[in-house]
Amino acid sequence: MDVIESSPVQGNNLDPWYDSYAGRTAGLAASEVRALFAVASRPEVVSLAGGMPFVSAIPEDLLAGSIQKVMAERGPVALQYGSGQGVPALREQILEVMALEGIRGSADDVVVTTGSQHALELFSKLFLDPGDVVIAEGPSYVTAMVIFNSYQADVDHVPLDEHGLIPGALREHIARLKAAGRRIKFLYTVPNFHNPAGVTLTWERRLEILEICKSEGILVLEDNPYGLLYFNERPPAAMRSIEEEGVVYLGTFSKTLAPGLRVGWALAPHAIREKLILANEAAVLSPSSFTQLIVSEYLNQADWRAQIDTFRGIYRERKEAMVAALQEHLPELSWTNPTGGFYVWVTLPEPLDSKAMLPRAVKELVAYTPGTAFYADENGRQNMRLSFCYPTPEQIKLGIRRLANVVTGELDLLDTFAGTGELSQLRLARGAFPPSDLR
Ligand SMILES: Cc1ncc(COP(=O)(O)O)c(C=O)c1O
Repeated sequence: MDVIESSPVQGNNLDPWYDSYAGRTAGLAASEVRALFAVASRPEVVSLAGGMPFVSAIPEDLLAGSIQKVMAERGPVALQYGSGQGVPALREQILEVMALEGIRGSADDVVVTTGSQHALELFSKLFLDPGDVVIAEGPSYVTAMVIFNSYQADVDHVPLDEHGLIPGALREHIARLKAAGRRIKFLYTVPNFHNPAGVTLTWERRLEILEICKSEGILVLEDNPYGLLYFNERPPAAMRSIEEEGVVYLGTFSKTLAPGLRVGWALAPHAIREKLILANEAAVLSPSSFTQLIVSEYLNQADWRAQIDTFRGIYRERKEAMVAALQEHLPELSWTNPTGGFYVWVTLPEPLDSKAMLPRAVKELVAYTPGTAFYADENGRQNMRLSFCYPTPEQIKLGIRRLANVVTGELDLLDTFAGTGELSQLRLARGAFPPSDLR
């Protein structure tokens, strides 16, 4: 038999294996703004787009001592495969970290993962079948949605406001989905300093949402990477501190220490924990022994609470710089005023489209993430996420001034084409923008 004739090459021009990929990879398409972000990473661009923690604030010798000690005293263990559940001593220490958020649990129920991103992946693998529904805030964390989509689940967005997810809207959505015969698998929520919206769920709403989910038989996936990075007051205690059986809690050392270590965790009810361990083993055999031992040693010997305080001070200052610059240069926009975390969520005046405006912004040497990235549907055109975690206060001020020029330019353009003069009146009524010579 002629092999070539019996296996006709199809695919497309660029990828001969195009027709061979599994259906679930459809959701793994590169985002339309990815190419622009490659440009935006040039040093002359002020990037308010990425959510990179400011790891330069970690003193050089803070982790070096831990690394040396681990290698000197436990080298062969650090370099070996480990348990699929994670290093027992670290799981005990994770309980101490979670206690700061009001959580009490057993180290037996902690599963260490390769960042909390991997916990999201494992959890989704356990629970999602094609056609299932995940309820999430609208907007929601983009890379969680990529995972949900990769398991061919649909994301149903429930709106949030400055107090977080709206319980009444959650009730309505659940009723509508159930009436349509949809299978709701879980509620995915980021209650503290939401990514991307920057808002925090109130205590009363935490109680109400847990009550709703309990009565409707819906599991809650509480993702809390930012809770310890509050600026002044602690956020309310974690949802997991109120409800144990109905909540799977995700935590990480990525924001309070360093994302390069890739150490996160899940705290889950016994049965789910068992399945998470099996899924973890199937995926990676064991999370990195090396980085787990480093984190464990760091928690042992360093003043990690003081390091978190340092981060909190840095992010507080940057958030204040951003909000002050928005107030000064873009008073016609509205934005959330986070009490912790990394993000401000901006709403543009009606005619503006953040996605369409992005190329112009990058040309003006400022980058942001368009709101559309955070919705599974077509929403978010009037929004953008601005991150204040990485750039310095000076860079933030410069970035917002550049953004103001972009917004002015866009409004002028729309004004010219609309020819009504209404937009410029709106702008003049609320204060002029600064001149363009700001670079
Ligand atoms: C809401 C949320 N969840 C999870 C993650 C993943 O964090 P990591 O995998 O580094 O723990 C992030 C990272 O930005 C995030 O913002």
